[in-house]
Amino acid sequence: MKIESHHGFATRQIHAGKEKNPKGALATPIYQTSTFEFDSVKHGGACFAGESEGYIYTRLGNPSLKVVEKKIASLEGGEACLAAASGMGAISSSLWTALSSGDEIIADETLYGCTYSLLAHQFRRFGIVTTFCDLSDPGNLRDALTERTKVVYFETPCNPTLKIIDIESVAGIAHAYNPAIKVFVDNTFCSPYLQTPLAAGADVIVHSATKYLNGHGDVIGGFVVSDEAFIADCTMIGLKDLTGAVMSPFNAYLIERGLKTLDLRMEKHCSNAEKIARYLLGHPAVTRVYYPGFEDFPGHETAKRQMRRFGGMIAVEFNMSRDETAAAIDNLELCVIAVSLGDAETLVEQPATMTHSTYSGEELKASGISESLVRISVGLEDAEDIIADFERVLRR
Ligand SMILES: Cc1ncc(COP(=O)(O)O)c(C=O)c1O
Repeated sequence: MKIESHHGFATRQIHAGKEKNPKGALATPIYQTSTFEFDSVKHGGACFAGESEGYIYTRLGNPSLKVVEKKIASLEGGEACLAAASGMGAISSSLWTALSSGDEIIADETLYGCTYSLLAHQFRRFGIVTTFCDLSDPGNLRDALTERTKVVYFETPCNPTLKIIDIESVAGIAHAYNPAIKVFVDNTFCSPYLQTPLAAGADVIVHSATKYLNGHGDVIGGFVVSDEAFIADCTMIGLKDLTGAVMSPFNAYLIERGLKTLDLRMEKHCSNAEKIARYLLGHPAVTRVYYPGFEDFPGHETAKRQMRRFGGMIAVEFNMSRDETAAAIDNLELCVIAVSLGDAETLVEQPATMTHSTYSGEELKASGISESLVRISVGLEDAEDIIADFERVLRR
């Protein structure tokens, strides 16, 4: 049966992209091969010339990857998708494709630490300059745009402060200035179940599939979603030549398996996060809870409009110093101290010490990331047990 865009999310997360395979296997076979046999030199030549559809070499395409790419494209409402070896592989392969020396990026100042490092430090070495500003006020974009701007880049909710950025407003301002500007949104914190940025006017979506898309903490992977032409360039230039960041067929299989339960997992992550955020808000040891579901959280109304629910991520500050906070969370027993997010296990980390240690003290301050901030990726356990773990630690 052909799966179309009118089918529901759950139907598409299970069936989209699937091909009937010759041996009748229900699950997608893992095409664990580096290269593909040609019928003849002539056939090989036709494949290289794009005149025949056959696979050539896994860095250029593989049937296991094709299935999961089509599924993600369907869920995000995009024309095409490219799988990559990691979220950073997806981000770098697509940005290298979109940019040349002398171009400028405008990015929000709160980003995942390695993305920040790529934009703030590494691209600069090749003559690509990034201007950072607070895009939660889209007016700041107007002041930052120049004729050299080729890319506008942000996350929403941002990692780790959950700051919300209005995708429609930012994309509208960027495209009114120059329709050729590509608006990139990192949709890792939401997954397409909670938010579809292309529908709000973005041009390119990047994902760390390591997180909610796979959902089981056993894979590193990434995706780029956009129109056919840009994904073809990302495949043949960004990934094939510039980064070589190819997803392995086994990881594609695991991500496809994880995706079949994405909506169920996201619903539970969201419900658990809501309960834990409310518990933390009322606790005397807590000075601030960052959670887009609170009515007085800046950007709450935008989040309500552009997200299905408020997500599974929370950040929190306690009435303790950075070191005291670290010592306190060391005593958690059920929750795991680890970076990454979107797994079945509740993961707790201190961004200034871990995921955002690429920011200097000054840059942390400018981005609103306090040194004692704790980020919680709320897992799929019983919410009461997660709360009991925090309560035991905070009572001390
Ligand atoms: C929002 C966001 N984008 C991108 C990445 C990078 O993904 P990966 O670790 O799969 O390279 C991360 C990793 O934590 C992230 O949190």
